[in-house]
Amino acid sequence: MKSSLTAIKGTKDILPEEVRLWQKTEGICRQVFEVYGYREIRTPIIEPTELFVKGTGETTDIVTKEMYTFTDKGGRSITLRPEYTPSVVRAIIEHRLYLQPSPLRFYYFGPMFRHDRPQKGRYRQFHQVDIEVFGEADPSLDAEILEMADYLLHLLGVTERETLINSVGCPVCRPQYLALLREEAEKIKPLLCEDCQRRVEINPLRVFDCKISSCQELASRLPQIKDYLCADCAFHFETFRHWLDFYGLSYRLEPRLVRGLDYYTRTTFEIICSSLGAQNAILGGGRYDHLMKLYGGPDICGIGFAMGMERLLAVANLKIEKDRWLYIVCLGEKAREQGLRLCRELRHVGISALLEYKEKNLKALLARANKLGATWTIIIGEEEVARGECQVKEMASGVQKPVPLAEVEALMQKLYTSTMKLSELNLAESFRR
Ligand code: HAM
Repeated sequence: MKSSLTAIKGTKDILPEEVRLWQKTEGICRQVFEVYGYREIRTPIIEPTELFVKGTGETTDIVTKEMYTFTDKGGRSITLRPEYTPSVVRAIIEHRLYLQPSPLRFYYFGPMFRHDRPQKGRYRQFHQVDIEVFGEADPSLDAEILEMADYLLHLLGVTERETLINSVGCPVCRPQYLALLREEAEKIKPLLCEDCQRRVEINPLRVFDCKISSCQELASRLPQIKDYLCADCAFHFETFRHWLDFYGLSYRLEPRLVRGLDYYTRTTFEIICSSLGAQNAILGGGRYDHLMKLYGGPDICGIGFAMGMERLLAVANLKIEKDRWLYIVCLGEKAREQGLRLCRELRHVGISALLEYKEKNLKALLARANKLGATWTIIIGEEEVARGECQVKEMASGVQKPVPLAEVEALMQKLYTSTMKLSELNLAESFRR
């Protein structure tokens, strides 16, 4: 059957088999973040449009072209968040979290929305794993963050990856560089695409974000910020690199890595996987030391990164264990009563169990157990009820044993919480306890 109602272009359903992989990936991220001292924070999907215009930047592609913005019933301009960083900063200011001991470390998982042209690895609704740290200006932290990312990607089995780093300077050195960049960009302006011609006027740094190869080629000959950093920024970058070396992390200097968001200062970085094709960045981030102040909050620096879950899952190498669960089949009314009671008891001690409601013969029920992929089947017939027993069958080996109903919970707990086989269990022994 086909319906004309399908998911919106650039969005996709995550089906139950895939969800397992998402859960495992999220679980590993969560564990690593917690060990590194991060705490989870959750903020709304909708935010005032102004938040992104001001923070992400008026001249960025995200704000000029990609936001899902609408006017709500109260006449307010609302945007489905295209990224997470501005929301975290807003929440910190709103709830005065900056009064807590610093540095503050937060992490987050959730959907983001950008109306870009969909292609492999680029969606209109995608998911980010995000971490942010506030209140620590030391460049050792910049390196610590990349060390954590490296460890996490190692645990997720992402083998072929490359880290790119750059410094985009600060309000002291950037204006001078921007003036020079504009001057040079003006000279090649007629050769640039229409968007870039506009970028030269408004913010020439954005020319480096252009995805058109002829513009990229021309941009590669423009002056690079690394040659115009002030002494403090140069020192910060040097020290950052020193600590990357200390951790034994390899990286490539990429002077054109200005990142497509306006708030960055000093350190920027990306981790790319070439096997992903054109959309090869699995992680992007950097420092944003003035964003909190820009929003009217205290002058507290920040740094963080976000990983795209869809891209991450495309290169992660994780094994998903098969679900282990118990199928209960009952033959007759009395047996069903026993089965329902047992099913409830087992579920309440944490064993995944399902009871079959359809009345069929045993052969058909066992065939169904195999088809459903049950690990064990418990069979309760009238005779078993009379004897106060049930049959436990291990589906993979076909081994089947009679077990007193009063003992089946203990037996199942043993099987469920270990890799022990039914044939390995000395039932008489195990019931003596
Ligand atoms: P971003 O580079 O725009 O940075 O996005 C981070 C990651 O999200 C990308 O590296 C990519 O993996 C994924 N991503 C972005 N757009 C899409 C898309 N349309 N489809 C699929 N995946 C996508 C930020 O968003 C910053 N807020 C990161 C940050 C946190 N900087 C400091 N703190």
